[in-house]
Amino acid sequence: MGTNLDGAVGGGDHASGLTEGVPEAELVPLPGCRVVAVGAAVPAPVLANRQLTAFLETSEEWITTRTGIRERRVAPAGTSVADLGLRAAEVALAAAGLPAAGIDAVIGTSSSADVTFPSVACRIQARLGCPPGVAFDLQAACTGMVYGVGVAQALVRTGAARRVLVVGSEIFTRVVDWRDRGTAVLFGDAAGAIVVGPAGDPGSEILAVRLGADGRGADSLVAAPVGPGSMPDPLAPGRPAPPRSLGRAVVMNGREVFRFSTQVLERLVRELAAAAEIAPADIELVVPHQANSRILATAAGRLGLPIDRFVLNVDRYGNTSSASVPLALVEAAAAGRCRTGAPIGLVAFGGGLTWGGILLRWGDTATGLDDARHPGGDRVAVPAGARDGREATGG
Ligand code: ACO
Repeated sequence: MGTNLDGAVGGGDHASGLTEGVPEAELVPLPGCRVVAVGAAVPAPVLANRQLTAFLETSEEWITTRTGIRERRVAPAGTSVADLGLRAAEVALAAAGLPAAGIDAVIGTSSSADVTFPSVACRIQARLGCPPGVAFDLQAACTGMVYGVGVAQALVRTGAARRVLVVGSEIFTRVVDWRDRGTAVLFGDAAGAIVVGPAGDPGSEILAVRLGADGRGADSLVAAPVGPGSMPDPLAPGRPAPPRSLGRAVVMNGREVFRFSTQVLERLVRELAAAAEIAPADIELVVPHQANSRILATAAGRLGLPIDRFVLNVDRYGNTSSASVPLALVEAAAAGRCRTGAPIGLVAFGGGLTWGGILLRWGDTATGLDDARHPGGDRVAVPAGARDGREATGG
């Protein structure tokens, strides 16, 4: 799929090796492809830190100071990742005024699907009413959306597809062990969708793509079978409630992941800047995977950038895995933080260990958010052309 997808690095262990023995990035600016639309959807139920103290030996203060997270959303028991992903896809298409018939490839990036097959992509293709075409899921954990956009632009560039919908839908509250205070407090549910189209489409130009993985770090972050015994339902601890577990749960070496994440974020921002022949400080906005605010603050410090250069919404949603980048981007656009013409970097890291970055020159990308907490105003869309995000309308 071209040199820009050959981003894996070698040398050293998976953390320190990121900066050792790695050849200089040879990034060729990618002509043409556009991010046409970005959508996100979040379920209504809110789970605040205080509620977690009812059944976990933790405190609001510990969670807030160590992670930056104050609350997260939890999908109702009857909601599937396809249901949530469909909402994000619909709001993205509506914002851009794109019919489903215009989508000829769908890529799903979920790490929290309840079945291995059929793919989430196939479900969404059918329910959206897209014509039969390419549809598949890829697995890159929290880097999934960035991988998906990287693969999508490669499909468009090679002519294998014209317009690709990438959907990252995550119900991670079903992939945690609610008895484990070290991981359960970190995650939340959301979906994001990004439409990638050809040069002739309105949108933000994709200037560079950088993807990588180092499987030597695979054991640092795993979704493994949960131990025996019953698990509390976070929304109804102590009361009979529908099961909300897929039988596997995140197990991680938190310190190792922290070290890896901060190093790889710095490296990605530097590489994206190098690709565009600008300084890291010229990247006006960094839209990172939202794992925790300390990771982002540390990475910003390593880059010598003010933290307000990074979009941060982990306080309200927790870590939503592959949905977090589109959710943060949609909110940044709605807040008027995406200036037309600005270089904007999307950067993510996750299990694998994987990492990825996309550099955009922001343009007429349509964005929308479907927040089920706000019925009536729940499909706020920023149509293409409303560049500073202030012309939000129902969509
Ligand atoms: N409440 C209270 N105490 C807790 C909690 C909690 N929720 N969780 C852990 N602790 C305790 C531990 O038991 C330990 O206690 P001890 O000293 O008595 O043994 C103490 O706090 C310190 O535990 P550490 O795991 O060393 O805590 P640390 O300071 O490393 O913070 C954290 C943990 C926040 C997870 C940190 O390692 C981190 O930020 N790691 C990055 C990993 C991450 O964010 N992963 C997200 C998923 S990965 C991804 O998205 C790519």
